[in-house]
Amino acid sequence: MQKNNLKWVIGLSFFAGLITAIVLPAISSAAPDSSPAKNKNPLQGMTPVEASKGLELPQGNDEAAVVQGRYLVGLLGCASCHTEGALIGKPDPAKTLAGSSIGIAYSNPMVNNFPGAVYPPNLTPDKETGLGEWSLEEIVTLLRSGKTRHGRQTMAIMPWTSYAQLNESDARAIASYLKSLEPVKNKVPKQVLPGNPAKTPLVHVGLYRSR
Ligand code: HEC
Repeated sequence: MQKNNLKWVIGLSFFAGLITAIVLPAISSAAPDSSPAKNKNPLQGMTPVEASKGLELPQGNDEAAVVQGRYLVGLLGCASCHTEGALIGKPDPAKTLAGSSIGIAYSNPMVNNFPGAVYPPNLTPDKETGLGEWSLEEIVTLLRSGKTRHGRQTMAIMPWTSYAQLNESDARAIASYLKSLEPVKNKVPKQVLPGNPAKTPLVHVGLYRSR
């Protein structure tokens, strides 16, 4: 039990630390040559970003599962990715858990100036732009296996490899809380494939080793 808790803390601080690391204005990286020259400072054009503090989660109703779900969503940091502006330390309280139009780069910017980018989706129950069409079970499956309702494997940037350790009742509590939220209409950009310039700012998450 203790050991598991420790793993969580390490896992979460790992993400929190990395996300605060660097942000790259995607547009400014529009160099004519898309492969960075040797010895070029790979962090050129990047700006450090602040972690989001004081993200207040919507209350939800007073059912026990919803209350527990809100607690877990706060603990597991879902809103630090899935909230508009939160990835760069400027969360929009009207769009808490309603998705992010700031992307997360998922390929190495030292290999290609135009890394692929993924956008944390809208988790409110809006039918068009959020989880409105997802059943409680489908959200539970996503959390515990990373599989979407369409059978696609979600990238590990969404920390499902850690969330897979959730027990059934905690995963159901999270899903119940998300289902209880007010739907917010917010369409996030489509995934950008590596080699294509993203039209939005991106945060970079990665581990790099010095020689
Ligand atoms: C480090 C950032 C990050 C954190 C923290 C995070 N997510 Fe995600 N999540 C993502 C990204 C990015 C995707 C999209 C991944 C993809 O499409 O492959 C995603 C996808 C999802 C999806 C699938 C939605 C869809 O429309 O496909 C759900 C549901 C989800 N996350 C719920 C959660 C919950 C609940 C938590 C907290 C327990 C959480 N996420 C924490 C980044 C994050």
